[in-house]
Amino acid sequence: MSSSNLNVAIIGSGLAGLCLALALHQQGISCTVYESRASPLNIGGAVMLSPNALRVLDALGVYSTVKQQGHNFDTLHFRDTAGTLLEEYEFGSKDKYGYQGLRIFRTVLIDSLMSALNKTGVPLHFGRKFSHVVNESADGVTFQFADGTTETASILVGADGIHSTVRKYLHPDLVPAFTGMTGITAAVPTAQLQLPEGYHIPVTIVHPTHSAFVIAPQQPDGSQVLIGRQRRLEGPEPSREAWDALIADKASSISFLRAVASDASFPQFVRNAVSEINPETINVWPFYIVPRLDKWASERHHRVLILGDAAHAIPPSAGQGINQAFEDSYMLALLVGCAGKVNVGDALQFWQTYRQERVDRVLALNKQIDLRRIPGAGAGREPFNLGWLYEQDFKKDVEEWVASRVD
Ligand SMILES: Cc1cc2nc3c(=O)[nH]c(=O)nc-3n(C[C@H](O)[C@H](O)[C@H](O)COP(=O)(O)OP(=O)(O)OC[C@H]3O[C@@H](n4cnc5c(N)ncnc54)[C@H](O)[C@@H]3O)c2cc1C
Ligand SMILES: *[C@@H]1O[C@H](CO)[C@@H](O)[C@H](O)[C@H]1NC(C)=O
Ligand SMILES: *[C@@H]1O[C@H](CO)[C@@H](O)[C@H](O)[C@H]1NC(C)=O
Repeated sequence: MSSSNLNVAIIGSGLAGLCLALALHQQGISCTVYESRASPLNIGGAVMLSPNALRVLDALGVYSTVKQQGHNFDTLHFRDTAGTLLEEYEFGSKDKYGYQGLRIFRTVLIDSLMSALNKTGVPLHFGRKFSHVVNESADGVTFQFADGTTETASILVGADGIHSTVRKYLHPDLVPAFTGMTGITAAVPTAQLQLPEGYHIPVTIVHPTHSAFVIAPQQPDGSQVLIGRQRRLEGPEPSREAWDALIADKASSISFLRAVASDASFPQFVRNAVSEINPETINVWPFYIVPRLDKWASERHHRVLILGDAAHAIPPSAGQGINQAFEDSYMLALLVGCAGKVNVGDALQFWQTYRQERVDRVLALNKQIDLRRIPGAGAGREPFNLGWLYEQDFKKDVEEWVASRVD
């Protein structure tokens, strides 16, 4: 395979798919994006981006735009209900990592990536639902859409999210596992909280019996906050219909958030935060995971791959889902750009091994963070060390690997 005559089909115009399209274009590789929806996916309000992902967006020329459209911050505080600062978790730092952390609405991020993509001329087709792979050979892959039409590409990438259909080609029996936890969030005006002068947000307030209460600013000026708690669901995994009912039951979510209000040990601003909640801002996020997969690419011809949530949906504690998807996409594009110089099977193996190792470290970090939320688990906690996560230079690592192969 030489990179110049490759064409890549990307299934899904979520954050992984859009980032991959931009990165491939930058490598001079032609690609097309197919999205099943009629318009982009918009879920969950604001998301957090850390320096590892922001460096990728910078390399793709979109950081300067998105930076101005979100809320820039450095640290997340962990406090107890009495207000004692337990710990600071870095989400970014201009001095240490080159970038502050960024909280930005998913729609804003998607719009920015889409308008950058539009300028490149890379085609993005809405309303095209991928159905299955027809056949794969040494020449490429032919695949079919739900409407019966087919397309052929050199490489097919499933960036189609946690319930990926492309993944069925590689792992026919895999179903994502429910963790038993959901995130219940709402958005309220920051002014409603009447935060004490100088009180730092974002903050996670740890409570001896209730699940931790999170407050995180959004909008460029921080005029709105997301408030949220994790809710454990007892019993078996809800059916599709039960999920829909749960998500539609705004009153239940509001009363779950309000349960803290009756507890006088929470600071007054927490009770203020839940005093008025607009049901329209309620969001229920069930935490599903994709277990560790032995392969992200088809073995014989290496023509079908998956990335982002399709390959490794992870729990949300470290806020790395999107960030890890960006890393996947950017590195894959760099490697596909070297397709003429290196064996593609080897390159994909390098990619998956490298990426899996980082995803594994994020999973370990998630556990470390979860421990912080459990009251009394303070003793013997290891301090956070985030240099490996935020400072990695993917371009340099790919170049070094390619150089080691070419000689
Ligand atoms: C409510 C919520 C809040 C979150 N907050 C954060 C956060 O703060 N920080 C963070 O890092 N992560 C967060 N996550 C996780 C994050 O959303 C995912 O890790 C990330 O979106 C994965 O990106 P993706 O592009 O791989 O998949 P997705 O974003 O799921 O995109 C997949 C795309 O593929 C399309 N598609 C699916 N099937 C087909 C098909 N058959 N044919 C064509 N197209 C198809 C979908 O319509 C969609 O557009 C959150 C998730 C949720 C649900
Ligand atoms: C870019 O956007 C314009 C205006 O919406 C649209 O007409 C054009 O087809 C888009 N180009 C691509 C490549 O999607
Ligand atoms: C798939 O099969 C069809 C029909 O036999 C053939 O025309 C096409 O070239 C094949 N596609 C690939 C990628 O091998």
